Amino acid sequence: MDIFEEIKLKGYAEEYIDPTLDLFDEIEKLKKEKNAVILAHYYQDADIQDIADYIGDSLGLSQQAAKTDADIIVFAGVHFMAETAKILSPTKKVLLPDVKAGCSLADSCPPHLFKKFKEQYPDHLVITYVNCTAELKALSDIVCTSSNAVQIVESLPLEQKIIFGPDKNLGAYVAKKTGRDLVLWNGACMVHEIFSREKITKLKERHPGAKLLAHPECEDVILQMADYIGSTTGILKYATSQPGKEFIVATEPGIIHQMQKDNPDKVFIPAPPNNNCACNDCPHMKRNTLEKLYLCLKNELPEIEVPHDIIVRAVKPIERMLEISAQLGL
Ligand code: 13P
Ligand code: SF4
Repeated sequence: MDIFEEIKLKGYAEEYIDPTLDLFDEIEKLKKEKNAVILAHYYQDADIQDIADYIGDSLGLSQQAAKTDADIIVFAGVHFMAETAKILSPTKKVLLPDVKAGCSLADSCPPHLFKKFKEQYPDHLVITYVNCTAELKALSDIVCTSSNAVQIVESLPLEQKIIFGPDKNLGAYVAKKTGRDLVLWNGACMVHEIFSREKITKLKERHPGAKLLAHPECEDVILQMADYIGSTTGILKYATSQPGKEFIVATEPGIIHQMQKDNPDKVFIPAPPNNNCACNDCPHMKRNTLEKLYLCLKNELPEIEVPHDIIVRAVKPIERMLEISAQLGL
């Protein structure tokens, strides 16, 4: 089987790596040699966050992808994020350590069905959460992330009718915050939908001073209990700026690595899921490993390609989001 067939089948190409090799050193060398930059989301493994040139939330990562002067972007995140980087920097080589690192939320909104849905509301503007395929972005008017969704809706005239997709939880949160009547697509993230209200309540009883920090992809029952709601960057900033000692974190626990690094004296407790599974790790984000990242930079594969016609249509709503965010200082 050649390397391309192997990537198609498994998502990455397997190769023996000498276990005595210092992968941190090797990745640093390859980065310099190839003028590559590593962009990592907060949900990545601690090792990947530590080797990254930039760690951030979806908005920060898109802003970095748009302005980097590197020749190669290694995107340590999931497929829709790497696609967004390619759309914003089409002349650059964009690599994803495991091309099967997908997203349940993006999968919950197939573009051909969304197109039919959109046709039912011809006088509505379409705002899509960045967690969706490039094809879906191409069907949108403005893209948003969890850190600017409220402000983007607020930037539109009150009488403007809006479809919001694909995340129904973020959509409901934005509708509540802005008082707007949004038409929602019925999609959700598998990681943020499994937090248990009962178990969080018990945890709060055991840690009465602990503040609950929640991502707006969580269901309303969890958001109603939260002391703070925000994107991953928002959650990190809040925990750092607040005087409290204990925090319960209702988002993917990869973020706790940075929270703990920035706040060594504070205690961060992952919010428990409603099943007996060990954790709330995102199985898609966690497909990337340091080994796969090393091999992907070495072989410059798997590479993310987006058809030209999709790039032309999808770049507009993403740039619109970046413009509004820049105007608002986000
Ligand atoms: P943010 O990076 O905007 O906080 O979103 C979290 C997420 O689910 C990314 O997949
Ligand atoms: Fe998608 Fe949820 Fe994983 Fe984010 S945490 S990549 S929204 S499945």
